[in-house]
Parts: sequence; structure tokens; C-alpha cells
Amino acid sequence: MAEDKNNLRTPIVCVMGHVDHGKTTLLDQIRGTRIVKGEAGAITQHIGATEVPIDIIVEKCGDKRLADKFIVPGLLFIDTPGHHAFTTLRSRGGSLADLAVVVVDINEGFKPQTIESLNILKRFKTPFIVVTNKIDRIQGWKVHQGESFLSTYKKQTPEVQALFEQKFYDVIGNLYEQGFSADRFDRVTDFQKTLGVIPISGMTGEGIPDVLMILLGLAQRFLESSLHYDINGPGVGTVLEVKEEKGLGTTIDVILYDGTLRKGDTVVIGCLGEPIVTKIRALLKPRELSEIRYESKFQPIPEITAAAGVKISAPDIENALAGAPIISTTPETLNGVIERVKSEIDDVQIQTDVDGVMIKADTIGSLEAMVHEFKKADVQIQKAEVGDVTKRDVMEASTINDPMHSVILAFNVKVNPDAQELLDTTPAVKVFKNDVIYRILDEYQDFVKEQEE
Ligand code: GTP
Ligand code: MG
Repeated sequence: MAEDKNNLRTPIVCVMGHVDHGKTTLLDQIRGTRIVKGEAGAITQHIGATEVPIDIIVEKCGDKRLADKFIVPGLLFIDTPGHHAFTTLRSRGGSLADLAVVVVDINEGFKPQTIESLNILKRFKTPFIVVTNKIDRIQGWKVHQGESFLSTYKKQTPEVQALFEQKFYDVIGNLYEQGFSADRFDRVTDFQKTLGVIPISGMTGEGIPDVLMILLGLAQRFLESSLHYDINGPGVGTVLEVKEEKGLGTTIDVILYDGTLRKGDTVVIGCLGEPIVTKIRALLKPRELSEIRYESKFQPIPEITAAAGVKISAPDIENALAGAPIISTTPETLNGVIERVKSEIDDVQIQTDVDGVMIKADTIGSLEAMVHEFKKADVQIQKAEVGDVTKRDVMEASTINDPMHSVILAFNVKVNPDAQELLDTTPAVKVFKNDVIYRILDEYQDFVKEQEE
């Protein structure tokens, strides 16, 4: 987090993947041993993120000589629980993550959210790796705690190795179907051409040294130019989540990716409608586990520098939007910053007079992803906005004559009761509702085909 010798900020690494495939376990493992050794201070727990400094990563890789080779200060890992993947990942027109890890349970293979994760990363052109997790569950696997993959693999019986290869190549096949040329990480010579896949166990730590090593290599290779930042510049971040906290009221969890935020700073936050302008009442970080004497789980800090995760308490932030920008400002720059935040939200939402479908999504990030996928499929969009399906939406859709466009595509949102009532008596309006984007697209495309026949 601190300014390092080269003034490179910590790369942000998003851990994504299907529910229960082991994202949190992998992160627990990465921060784990240090805490066991009683040196938890070295790894910094952020709001929504974990910062692992370079020397610990180097130590875990088991090769001290690496320390001089790497110039990033460490890695900031963000855990993205299931549905929040989109919101947590976006920043203006791009990815909040500098790098990503897609976790796939080797015994279960690809699942809907695995594919969604890959789609997002493809769209953002974020460099990433895939880890096939839970290798310790392969029948007959002998655990070698914390060892590199090749080292533990060599010690398995030929039967276990064969079983592993079969499952592993299923995943490689899945990746191929999604348009990725992929191979086991140790066989990849050019990570720009071929996706590296690392077999691991988040539970036993096998393969974790390889994960850290490859991530560092990618950061070094592809990110150096994008990690320079202005430590004294305005704080720029993305809202991860809007959350009620006992005793604090509404707070927002933010990933800061540029500059510095200070207590008392004026900030502009994206929401639907006019951006929020407010003053930071408190910057909060998680309290160390040892400090149980405190009532609150959080500890106030005077300032925080990118890259970092932080909880912010401030007045009037109830309508802040997950996935929206937050930028600090002086009175002189205020108007410009408001414009910048507003235009970023306006870029994602669509309101036109053309004949087309209506898209509703739960967050600015998921809306952005929806719009992208539907545009790519050449679907005409009349309106795209964040929020539940309302009666007004149904009324608007019912005025469209083309049955292929008299359609509401709803991602991760509710249909309000009065909207549902109207829908029941308005058969002309079709609603496609799902929590997987490409499924909505598939269903819609099937519907269009039916109409054309
Ligand atoms: P969500 O946050 O709900 O999306 O899940 P997640 O991806 O964070 O998965 P999590 O880490 O919570 O793991 C899900 C379950 O799988 C837990 O019961 C873990 O103990 C188990 N698990 C995760 N990784 C491994 C592994 O490498 N080996 C084994 N045997 N179990 C694992
Ligand atoms: Mg989790």
C-alpha cells in the first residue's frame, strides 16, 4: 500500500468463479500460514480485499532470489462472491482488476458462473489464469502440504496421475470451447497467446506457490506501465457494495485504485440521477482479530492510498450504486468531477427512441455486461437501466408493436407486484428473467427464432 521505490501501486487481483468452487478457501490459504506463524501483521486485511506483500509472496514461492527481480509491492486480492462478479470488477469502460484468477473445481468442471467470469475477462481483456481447484479430492491423491504442483504431482501413483490428467484435460477442453487456447502453466511459453492453467488445492496449499509466481510474472510483464500512479492525486475508486452497519448507518465498501483518500475529503459518488456529493466522515478498516475489546469491527484511519479496500461512512450515501465510481475532489475541480462521474453512469444506461428491447439489471456493472452481450448479438436496445421491472416498464414495452422488441430482459432483478399484475393481462409483453446473462440471451434468441418461423 505504501509508496514503493518505483512508485508502482499494488496490482489488484480478482478471484472469480462459480459458487463453492473454492475462491475464499484459496485466499484463506494465501493469507493463512502467516497467521498461524503469529505474524499476521505482515498481511493486511482490507475491506473486501487482502494485501499480500512481495516478501511474503517470495517466501511462499520458496525462492529468495526472486525478491530483487520483482518491482511490484505485492498483490491485492479481491474475493468476488458469486453474483457480485460484475459490479466488483468494473471501472470506467474497463476492468477494476489488473489480473484475475478463475477458480474451477476440477471435479465439477465448468459451470454457468465460470463461463460468465471468462466472458467478462475476455471483454475487458484482463490478463488472467485459471486454477483447477480441489485436486486433493481426486481419488487416491496423496497430499503434500503447500508444495508446488509439479513436486506433488511427481509423487502420485500412475493411476492417480491418469485420473488427474483426464479431469484436467476436460477443463482444457471446456476452455477451448470458450475460445481459449490453454495449457498446463509449466508448458506455456507465451502467456499472451496461451492461457496458463494451474492445478491446485486451496485446502492443502498444493500449487499455491505456482499461482503466486505466475501472478507476479504476469504483473511484471503486462502491467508495469499501467501501475504507475500519483500518490498525491485524488482518490479514485469503485463502489463494491452499499451496506448497513450497526452503529454506523449506511456505509460503502470501496476499492481504491488510484491516489489517496482522506477523512474529511469531499467525494463524488455515482448513483442513478445526479451524483452524490458528500464528505467522508470516517475511513474504516477491519480491526485485527486480537482487538476484541472494541464494540465495532472497524477501526478508523486518517487516510488510505491505492490500491486498497476501505469502508467509508458519510452522509447521504444511501443511493450510491454498486459498480459506480467514487472520486475525491477540491472545490475547484468539483464541477468537472461531477460531470465525469455522471457521464460514466450515462455511458452505461441507454434511453433511445428506436424500436428495441428493454434491459433491466441489478447493478451498473451487470447492466454494462448485458448491454455488451446483446449489442454483440446485434439485438436492438431501446432502453437499458438499473432497477427492478416496474409497471411503467411493462406499459412502455406494450406500446412496441414488433413482438421481438416488446420484450423485457431482466438480469438479477425482481418484477414488482403491480408490474406482474399488468403482465398477467398483457400477453404481448414477454419477460426473460435469469441470473446468468448468456442464458437470457439464449432464451431470447430461441424466442426470436420461433417468431420468425
Ligand atoms: P462462494 O463464495 O459461495 O461463491 O464459494 P467459494 O468459491 O468462496 O468457495 P469456498 O472457498 O467457500 O469453498 C466451498 C467449499 O469447498 C468449502 O466447504 C471448502 O472447504 C471446500 N473447498 C474449497 N477448496 C477446496 C480444496 O482445495 N479441497 C477440498 N477438499 N475442499 C475445498
Ligand atoms: Mg466465497
